[in-house]
Amino acid sequence: MKIYVYGVYNDEVPYIKEWQQEHPEVTVETTTKLLNEESVDLSKGSNGVVVFQQEPYSDGTLKKLASNGITKMSLRNVGVDNINHELANKLGFQITNVPVYSPAAIAEFSVTQALNLLRRTKEFYLKLGKGDYNWAPHIAKEMNNQVVGIVGTGNIGSTAAKMFAGFGAKVIAYSRHKNPELEKIVEYVELEELYKRSTIISLYLPHVPATSKMLNEETFSMMKDGVLIINTARGPLIDENALIKALDSGRVGGAALDVLVGETKIFNQQIDEDQVDYPEFKNLLKRPNVLITPHIAFYTDQAVKNMVKMSLSANLDLITKGTSDKLVEF
Ligand code: COI
Repeated sequence: MKIYVYGVYNDEVPYIKEWQQEHPEVTVETTTKLLNEESVDLSKGSNGVVVFQQEPYSDGTLKKLASNGITKMSLRNVGVDNINHELANKLGFQITNVPVYSPAAIAEFSVTQALNLLRRTKEFYLKLGKGDYNWAPHIAKEMNNQVVGIVGTGNIGSTAAKMFAGFGAKVIAYSRHKNPELEKIVEYVELEELYKRSTIISLYLPHVPATSKMLNEETFSMMKDGVLIINTARGPLIDENALIKALDSGRVGGAALDVLVGETKIFNQQIDEDQVDYPEFKNLLKRPNVLITPHIAFYTDQAVKNMVKMSLSANLDLITKGTSDKLVEF
């Protein structure tokens, strides 16, 4: 039995080896290459593939994979927005993801960035770089005085809500599915009320048509002046041009963006900013009150270990049992 693992990076290797030792009946082969039309034939003869990439799994790649007899595909991450769901179903794919690899990894990072915006750390570092060690005018705000609006209370949003509440913030939340466990510390409200009352808004939703550009000119116009926006979910949840306007007007007082609409052009690679054709990114990057990070909220040792081991086990379940508790229903 053979599982082929695409897109392997160094941090993952020890966990792949560990899993291999625990499953001597399986041959695990790996490549650093992402899964695309050029690399798809590397997995010929395998029973399943395990993958991790932000770039789309192209239709051509899925077709070739299926024609090589491989329809069991396990993602080492949670998001499934880079797969053509309809085609995958038509080709008979069974796809798993790792829905809960470490909610704390992402939640902790979003809280960190909210604190960084409140304490204005980027502004201070920029000043220090110029020998300016003055305090003023960068006075901070305290988390315990904030109203934090959590959009989406799945695993990550719920974990973040508890963390923000631990800092003494008032936490309000909107979610299609309420988490009864949270109701002791969080006030559930309608989305419009959340936009109107929050001083910090943090997003924890997947990217689907209904959430695309949910933060836009209209929704920014409902928000409090100086609201802080945190996005560790997916770039396309925010209309970046509307955000730029809202930052210009002061409606938005700062933003921490770990995800961007066009991030695959720039994140997790060496870039020359001058050569990048992405005006919104360049505009946002230069702002002292905008924190851009290259999709690193997930990137912890605990999360990577779980992503690797859980996805391999899910792929093995697909191969040996024909199903998995991590099967994605498209
Ligand atoms: C996810 O798990 O979907 C993430 O956002 C991690 C990402 C690097 C693919």
